[in-house]
Amino acid sequence: MRNSVALGLLVAASLTGSTALAQQPRWWSPVVADSAMVVSAKSEATRVGVEILRRGGNAVDAAIAVHFALAVALPSAGNLGGGGFLVVRTADGAVHTYDYRETAPLAASEDMYLDESGEVRPGHPSWFGALAVATPGSVAGMKLVHERHATLPWAELIEPAIELAERGFPVDPYALRLIAGKVDDIRRFPGAAAILLSDGQLPAVGDTLRQPELARTLQLIATQGPAVFYHGEIADSIVGAMARRGGLVTHEDLRRYRAVERPPITFDYRGYTVHSMGPPSSGGITLKLILEQLETIDLGNYPYHGARAVHRIVEAMRRAFAERNVLLGDPDFVDIPESILAEPYAHELAASIDTLRATSSIDIRPELSASQATVESTETTHFSIVDPMGNAVASTTTINGSFGSLETVAGFFLNNEMDDLTVKPGVPNAYGLVQGRSNAIQPGKRPLSAMTPTIVVQNGKPRFIVGSPGGSTIITTVAQILIGTIDYGMTLAEALDGGRIHHQHLPDTIRAEPWTLSEDTVAQLESIGHRVEMRRGYSGRAQGIELGPETGLLYGRSDLRGGGEAAGF
Ligand code: GLY
Repeated sequence: MRNSVALGLLVAASLTGSTALAQQPRWWSPVVADSAMVVSAKSEATRVGVEILRRGGNAVDAAIAVHFALAVALPSAGNLGGGGFLVVRTADGAVHTYDYRETAPLAASEDMYLDESGEVRPGHPSWFGALAVATPGSVAGMKLVHERHATLPWAELIEPAIELAERGFPVDPYALRLIAGKVDDIRRFPGAAAILLSDGQLPAVGDTLRQPELARTLQLIATQGPAVFYHGEIADSIVGAMARRGGLVTHEDLRRYRAVERPPITFDYRGYTVHSMGPPSSGGITLKLILEQLETIDLGNYPYHGARAVHRIVEAMRRAFAERNVLLGDPDFVDIPESILAEPYAHELAASIDTLRATSSIDIRPELSASQATVESTETTHFSIVDPMGNAVASTTTINGSFGSLETVAGFFLNNEMDDLTVKPGVPNAYGLVQGRSNAIQPGKRPLSAMTPTIVVQNGKPRFIVGSPGGSTIITTVAQILIGTIDYGMTLAEALDGGRIHHQHLPDTIRAEPWTLSEDTVAQLESIGHRVEMRRGYSGRAQGIELGPETGLLYGRSDLRGGGEAAGF
């Protein structure tokens, strides 16, 4: 399949007007460039990243600029009021992973969302409104990676986002879909409505979305650094809003917040070295457990999306998610068994797979049984960057739900990340994830995440940089992209655009994008005990870069599922 890669369209550069710029073509093929590539979920942010690279900035400089640009151009997920993870592999081969996940406020408690009889209170308070907000980490995270890796001045990296917020950008059909999908909720929150609606009505495609209040906030961050966010004027605004609207975040929470470096999750998969994010993200460990179970079979010889392959992949997902949901949590609060990082752990899980029958999820980790678990889609956003020096960045960031808690302050949206903690053991969260006590609410704790920014290395060189939004489907999206490329020899673009399946232990159902499985395959899966749900809606929206080992070229792909752009030079 690799021979079928067509060269992407090289068009005149719109950024500098001088040199050729590879951009996302409209047909099914990757963007091709020979030096540098940025792939993000919004073309405005991608172009900001490319411009920073053209000025001589490195991949981390570009990542910081893209992060702030996404806070403007993709307010459903890009953020100042959320958190995220960033994996960087520097040209010398060193890998660093950074955690700027939000923390539960100090006043949070395990039963804060429960009523006197121990039931979750109505109105979804861990999802909507001020009580859903955890202490934001993104601004501290950007500053930490700036101190460690960047070469351009902090303010210069925020300047493009300020300009974008002041000048505005056109509402595209994808942005309109995001706003329209939540318009009734947006109308309940005056700050959100003021940013996203015109006189209470949906904007039209082509309308310009300007965010002057956000521009001013970004200007403060550019000139005063994170201090203004965690101790200064913006901190005052956050704390004031929380106090007025029933939230818990205080000055003390903001003062104490720290972004940190974490050890990467690194493992071998069929001769490729995979670097991904460790706890408090479950992404790296769950990805490792899925792939290492599959390494026990010759998966590439099972027909792609045929019943035999789907059965094995689903059984591996089921088992990996069961371990995730019980054992993983914020490593500063939970002792995660070291054995989970050793290969025999996954091989033992694989040994329990019946090759001819689906295992019932309640027979694996029965302590997690719940009857009403469902899987919902979600926002979050990922970007991938390679610079001309050979540095690579994979970063995933979120405010959790689309437009987070819908609470706003100083022109930006605040997260609803409290819902990623276990609101009540056994009760599914917004992604249908049924989680255990390891992820129970505790003051200062980071909610367990599924974000999976990943860099794959082959023969000492970066080979794939990839990640996705999608809540729990993030992990299975990244796993299937690596299965497509490594097991089935697809290009990254082919693997990334291919249909996806998802299983997360509970609900005990294979969720498949509607075009993924044939009728025969579904019938065969059902005959061996699987429940298959062909669902409207996407599983993930990945953004990836492939480095061609033979050609030395970069192939960028923004998922056909929506909105983004790959561009390079
Ligand atoms: N809020 C989605 C995640 O962190 O997995």
